[in-house]
Amino acid sequence: MKTQVAIIGAGPSGLLLGQLLHKQGIENIIIERVSADYVLGRIRAGVIEQGFSDLMKEAGISARMEAEGEIHSAVEIAVNGEVHSIDLEGLTGGETVTVYGQTEITHDLMDARIASGQQTFYSIDNTELHDIDGEKPYVTFEKDGKTERIDCDYIAGCDGFHGVSRQSIPKDKITEYEKVYPFGWLGLLADTPPVNFELIYIKHERGFALCSKRSSTRSRYYLQVPLDEKVEDWSDDRFWEELKHRLPESVVSQLVTGPSLEKSIAPLRSFVAEPMQYGRLFLVGDAAHIVPPTGAKGLNLAASDVSTLYRILTKVFSEGRTDLIEKYSEICLRRVWNGVRFSWWMTNMLHTFDHSEIEDKIRNSELGFFLSHANRRQILAEQYVGLPYEPIE
Ligand code: APR
Ligand code: PHB
Repeated sequence: MKTQVAIIGAGPSGLLLGQLLHKQGIENIIIERVSADYVLGRIRAGVIEQGFSDLMKEAGISARMEAEGEIHSAVEIAVNGEVHSIDLEGLTGGETVTVYGQTEITHDLMDARIASGQQTFYSIDNTELHDIDGEKPYVTFEKDGKTERIDCDYIAGCDGFHGVSRQSIPKDKITEYEKVYPFGWLGLLADTPPVNFELIYIKHERGFALCSKRSSTRSRYYLQVPLDEKVEDWSDDRFWEELKHRLPESVVSQLVTGPSLEKSIAPLRSFVAEPMQYGRLFLVGDAAHIVPPTGAKGLNLAASDVSTLYRILTKVFSEGRTDLIEKYSEICLRRVWNGVRFSWWMTNMLHTFDHSEIEDKIRNSELGFFLSHANRRQILAEQYVGLPYEPIE
């Protein structure tokens, strides 16, 4: 097979890139290790920055998000039982976020993929990248026991943290930065009306909690738990009881409990690989960086990478602007490090850990400092709604 861009991975990064390239008349093939249903079964975050929703519009896949997504003009932070509202819209001059699940976005992207007629291979094995530092890179993989080969001009590594793309770059050409946090998040999804319209990030002496949602009838809650906690030890009842302990008194009476649809524990990590391009391979999204979920930035950083890459590739194919290729990494990384810093800051400030009283006092003071004046809340709001995308030139 031959194509212009071979895309490894059909998560949100790969599918969105494929759609945007297709709209520019750039042919691409996506290969994905697991089945489409498996990809759709993963429960992930659901807060969409303005820049990402604009990109979805540009990609022509925003209709359902505009109809079913919820616009949120504020976010709430509770500390010591007191709830503070951050007026995102007022503090940023009109910007908001959209609450719309990653699963739904992936669904919309998969529908668009089928309509585009571009090729996608699911449930493949043994992805290998070849000659990425040469003029004629190619990708091989196995499908139904048969080895296939894709010859291409460029490869987009959209295959997540555990993917093969990043590993294909020689070790001495890439630097990895990593921090693993000493706690995890236990998440629960339920078909119950959310406890509050706005999301609430809760700092509590028993540990952080987050009240989120997928719609007016589906809730998503998280609890900070020790890293060695096992999901089997958390019955639904135990989860709801613990959540009640951590909820501010003013909202606890609104909590509606019910059977969980999904429950899982995720570790928290900050990770960046630099640079994000090597030869004709570009790393996109989780393949290059991971952030803890506290700032809701993971998916949004993936979207800004995609925006940068598709604009560069469009100029490469239409105007021969190969000089832009080496700008990809530096443009992405400036925004990535901002997202990494914000997520790390939010994580440190809102969680209870280290069993150190003085550290906790300092964290409480910092939170109080940032919540107590509009000009300080603005710093939080600007980053929560998302920094602007950088132009490619
Ligand atoms: N060959 C082909 N596909 C692969 C391979 C491989 N060797 N390895 C992994 N994949 C696939 C995975 O199965 C997965 O579907 O690549 C996809 C990567 O998708 P995600 O992990 O969702 O990463 P990405 O598309 O960058 O999504 C952005 O930001 O913080 C997160 O929740 C957020 O998942 C979201 C991500
Ligand atoms: C979620 O809804 O899953 C979610 C929302 C906000 C976050 C993290 C996760 O910061």
